[in-house]
Amino acid sequence: MNLACEILASFLLIFTVPTKGEDPESIVVWGALDHDLNLDIPGFPRSDSGDIKWNRNKNKIARIKKDMPLHNETDKYDMFTNGTLKIKTLMRNDSGLYEVEVYDSNGVNLLSKKFDLKIQGKSLTPK
Ligand SMILES: *[C@@H]1O[C@H](CO)[C@@H](O)[C@H](O)[C@H]1NC(C)=O
Ligand SMILES: *[C@@H]1O[C@H](CO)[C@@H](O)[C@H](O)[C@H]1NC(C)=O
Ligand SMILES: *[C@@H]1O[C@H](CO)[C@@H](O)[C@H](O)[C@H]1NC(C)=O
Repeated sequence: MNLACEILASFLLIFTVPTKGEDPESIVVWGALDHDLNLDIPGFPRSDSGDIKWNRNKNKIARIKKDMPLHNETDKYDMFTNGTLKIKTLMRNDSGLYEVEVYDSNGVNLLSKKFDLKIQGKSLTPK
């Protein structure tokens, strides 16, 4: 499998489709309830990314600056130096608007993306 196929495959895994809704810039991502989800950044600039920040509904959740994680690890999120945000064990209330911003080492904004996370799957039966 060549690189293009692998990248395509990783997109298909998280079912990214462009939104037709309110915010034309956000990418709708479907996550499966109770599973982990990797939010990959399409077009991530691998060469010079000095500062990568993730927000959820405007709250900071993870940041990596010069390959150093700046926010302390929570149980909920993992972030990798390639910018991918991993959300562990999806719950219904993890849906929402996730935003990522990538800056180069001079503080120039290289890329901003918004992801509209929706959760699909059977709801757990009440205990
Ligand atoms: C980013 O790195 C993580 C951990 O190494 C990996 O699981 C993920 O697939 C990578 N994402 C991309 C887009 O390469
Ligand atoms: C981790 O974050 C919490 C709250 O966000 C803060 O109170 C705590 O001091 C932080 N710990 C470290 C080691 O940064
Ligand atoms: C979602 O709900 C669970 C359990 O009710 C809670 O522990 C968690 O903090 C909530 N997460 C968010 C992002 O609100």
